[in-house]
Amino acid sequence: MFKTKMIYIITIADAVLYLFSVVMFLFTKTELALTIWEMLTIVSGPILLFAMLHLSHDLNQSVIIRYAVLGFMTCVCLLTAVAHVVNICVTRRLIAVGVDVPKYFRIGQWPSVEMAVDYLAWGFFMGLAYLCLGLSIVKNERKKNRIRIASIICGCMCLVGFFGALFINENLWYIAPMAYGPGIIVICILAILVGTDSRLFTIVIFYLFNDIMKGVKMLGIYFSGTGNSRYAAELFCREYDKKTRVLSIEDSDVLTAVNDANLIVFAYPVQFSTVPKIMRDFVTDNKGMWRNKKVFVIATMGLFSGDGAGMLGRLLENYGAEVTGGLHLKMPDSIADEKALKRPLEKNKELVKQAEQKIKKSVGQLKEGHPTKEGIGPLYRLAGFWGQRAYFGHKTREYTSKLKINNERCVGCRKCENLCPMNNITIVENKAVSGNRCTMCYRCINKCPKEAITLLGKNVVEQCEIEKYL
Ligand SMILES: Cc1cc2nc3c(=O)[nH]c(=O)nc-3n(C[C@H](O)[C@H](O)[C@H](O)COP(=O)(O)O)c2cc1C
Ligand code: SF4
Ligand code: SF4
Repeated sequence: MFKTKMIYIITIADAVLYLFSVVMFLFTKTELALTIWEMLTIVSGPILLFAMLHLSHDLNQSVIIRYAVLGFMTCVCLLTAVAHVVNICVTRRLIAVGVDVPKYFRIGQWPSVEMAVDYLAWGFFMGLAYLCLGLSIVKNERKKNRIRIASIICGCMCLVGFFGALFINENLWYIAPMAYGPGIIVICILAILVGTDSRLFTIVIFYLFNDIMKGVKMLGIYFSGTGNSRYAAELFCREYDKKTRVLSIEDSDVLTAVNDANLIVFAYPVQFSTVPKIMRDFVTDNKGMWRNKKVFVIATMGLFSGDGAGMLGRLLENYGAEVTGGLHLKMPDSIADEKALKRPLEKNKELVKQAEQKIKKSVGQLKEGHPTKEGIGPLYRLAGFWGQRAYFGHKTREYTSKLKINNERCVGCRKCENLCPMNNITIVENKAVSGNRCTMCYRCINKCPKEAITLLGKNVVEQCEIEKYL
C-alpha cells in the first residue's frame, strides 16, 4: 500500500528536480531548459497540494484548517497552470514566429501579467497554505512543532517575497522560492522523521467523505481488566452504528484508527474515583492525537465514582478534545480479593442487564443530539474528590509493586504473564514473579487458575469476568 511517507519522498524528489531545472536554465538559457522548468512548476503544484494535505492530516489539524489548506493549494495549482500554459502555448509561440509580444505579457519580466499570476500562486496562496500548517503549536509535541515552526517560517518567506516584489523591490521575490524549494525539502524530511504511517488512500477518502458530508465517524477505545469496560464500549458503539470499530488501548493499530475518527468513545474501569494509570499514560503519551476530536467517556464502576467520566474528560480536554458527554455504569466489582462489593451471581447479571438498558438509552440521546453528561460538571467533581480521591487517589498515582504471588499455589502456567497489559509478570524457575509496574487492572488476579495472586486483599474471594454475567 502507498504510505504517506511516499508522498513526502516524491515531494523531496520533485523539489530537487525543480531546483536542478532552475540552475540548468540559468546556466544554459535554452528554450528546452525553460520548458522543463515550466513543466516542472506545473507538476509541482498538485504534488505540493498532496504533501500539504498529508502534513495537515499528520499534524492533527481541524477539518476547517484542512479545507483551508486544500483551498489555498488548489489556487496555487490553478494559477500556476494558467500562467505557464499560457506562456508555453501562446506567448512563447508568438515570440518564436516573430510577433513582438509586449514585455508585460512575458514570463521572466517584471511587471508582467504572467509573473503577477505566478507570484500570486507561489507567494500569496502558497504562503497562506504554509501558515495554516503552522497553526496550533502543541506543547510537548517537539517533533511535530518543528514542522509547524518550519511551516510558519516558509509561509512568512512566501508572503515577504510576494508583498516585497509588489511594493518594495522586485528582487525580494527570490525569498519565496527558498520556501517552496529548500523549505519544503526540510519540512518533508522532518515529517518523515516523525514517522507517520497513515495511508494515502485514507486521507483522500477523508477529504471526500469527511464528517461534514458523511456525519459522525465513531471509534471506541477501551481499557479493561475483567471485560466490563470492553463490553460497555462494544455495546455502546455497535448500538450507535454496527460498523463502528472498537479497539483496546493495547491494540497496535489504535492510533491509526484515532486519526480517522471524529467522535471517540472511551471506556475504562474506575479505580478509587480516578483513571487507571495505564489509561492516563495512553492519553498523555499521545496528547497530540486528541485535538479537535469529540469524545464521549464511559466509566464503569462497582459502586461509585463521583466524576469518573469527568476525570478522563478533563484530561482529554487539556489536549484539545471536546467532551460531548459521559456515562456511568454500575457493573460487577472486579476486586477479586475484597469481600466488600461482592454480590450474588443473579444480582451481578441484573446489574449487567441494567447497564445494557442504560447504554441503549444513552446512545438514543446521543443520536438525538442531547448526550448524557454523567460525571461531568463541578458537583460530580466535588463528589468524586471528597467521596474518594482525597483519601485513596494517591494509590493510582504511580504503578505499584504491591502485587503478591503465592509461590506455593503458583504452577508456572504463564497465564498471568501472557495477560498482563504492563508486562509486569515474568516466570522465573517455573514461578510467577511480579515487577513494580502493575496498573491494578486485576486481570491476572481474576484469571489465575490457582487463585495465587492478590493485591489489595489477602485471599481471592471470588474471581469475576463479564462472560459469567451475560
Ligand atoms: C484497583 C481498583 C479500584 C477500584 N475502585 C473503584 C472505585 O473507586 N469505585 C467503584 O465503584 N469501583 C471501583 N472498582 C471496581 C471497578 O471499577 C469495576 O468493577 C469495573 O467495572 C471493572 O471494569 P473492567 O472489567 O473493565 O476492568 C475498582 C476496581 C479496582 C481493580
Ligand atoms: S496464572 Fe497463577 S498459576 Fe499461572 S503462572 Fe500466574 S500465578 Fe502462577
Ligand atoms: S500484574 Fe496483574 S493486575 Fe497488575 S497490571 Fe498486570 S495483569 Fe493487571
